[in-house]
Amino acid sequence: MSEHDISAPETEERQAPEPTKTGDNDVIIRFDDVYKSFGSHHILRGLSFDVKRGKVLGIMGGSGTGKSVSLRHVIGLLTPDKGRVEVEGRNVPDLTKHELGELRKRMGYVFQEGALINWLTVAENLSLPLKENSKLGADEIEHLVAEKLSMVRIPDAGEKLPSEISGGMKKRVGLARALITDPDIILYDEPNAGLDPEISRSINELMREIADESDATALVVEHRIECIETVCDEVVFLHEGKVLVQEPTQEFLRPTHPRLIEFLGPESRSSVSR
Ligand SMILES: Nc1ncnc2c1ncn2[C@@H]1O[C@H](COP(=O)(O)OP(=O)(O)OP(=O)(O)O)[C@@H](O)[C@H]1O
Ligand SMILES: [Mg+2]
Repeated sequence: MSEHDISAPETEERQAPEPTKTGDNDVIIRFDDVYKSFGSHHILRGLSFDVKRGKVLGIMGGSGTGKSVSLRHVIGLLTPDKGRVEVEGRNVPDLTKHELGELRKRMGYVFQEGALINWLTVAENLSLPLKENSKLGADEIEHLVAEKLSMVRIPDAGEKLPSEISGGMKKRVGLARALITDPDIILYDEPNAGLDPEISRSINELMREIADESDATALVVEHRIECIETVCDEVVFLHEGKVLVQEPTQEFLRPTHPRLIEFLGPESRSSVSR
């Protein structure tokens, strides 16, 4: 089975420990010393970080540093060579196929590439997660689809095929699809990519609204500082396969580490204010 196979590996049923709960401080996602290589290409090299319930963690880092690879571990599309990737206290690679399926129903994933099904209309693409994961009737599904399309500001796109809409619109459909089940855990892979600044701003505000109004926990991979600033509570910066810096967003955007100043460039607060 390839690692990209969406179906989980068959593993034996086993008794999993109950997740440890500590009120608002529940750790929902934890990377613990994760290593991942592809052949001789060592991508993750001791990656560790936590995200607590209801928080939004930004992941920044240069191209090819393993940001998308990290997200794929959370949803069980990749397994670590070493270390643990825990969701709600349970190591994702240890979940049975059924358990992983149940977990995925509670997750929304905004893919970097959009990943819409080309032969289905936009509305059908959005309905799919609801048909698969809920017992809602056709009318309720139609209502939710219309609501989410309005939310991402493309109310009239329902009957179009993905090939008939722009890259930025596809991105917004991808976002609407990830959010349609009101997921507990949301993984955003470059939600701003391909969007013009005005649409980006409204999408970022929407992401922040979702964070404020729900208990959802999110990881946001993004290059754009405006997105990080609007949406994230905290940010990790990946470098050479591990976390170089993890800080609350406002501090992160006033970097002191030379590598980070170089990365954030003239947009970063430090270089503006110093
Ligand atoms: N399934 C795979 N097989 C082989 N190599 C892979 C696989 N998935 C990712 N890689 C490699 O791992 C590295 C990290 O990839 P990843 O997609 O996580 O980068 P990224 O940090 O998301 O970069 P970008 O900002 O460009 O999206 C890249 O060199 C990529 O080619
Ligand atoms: Mg990526």
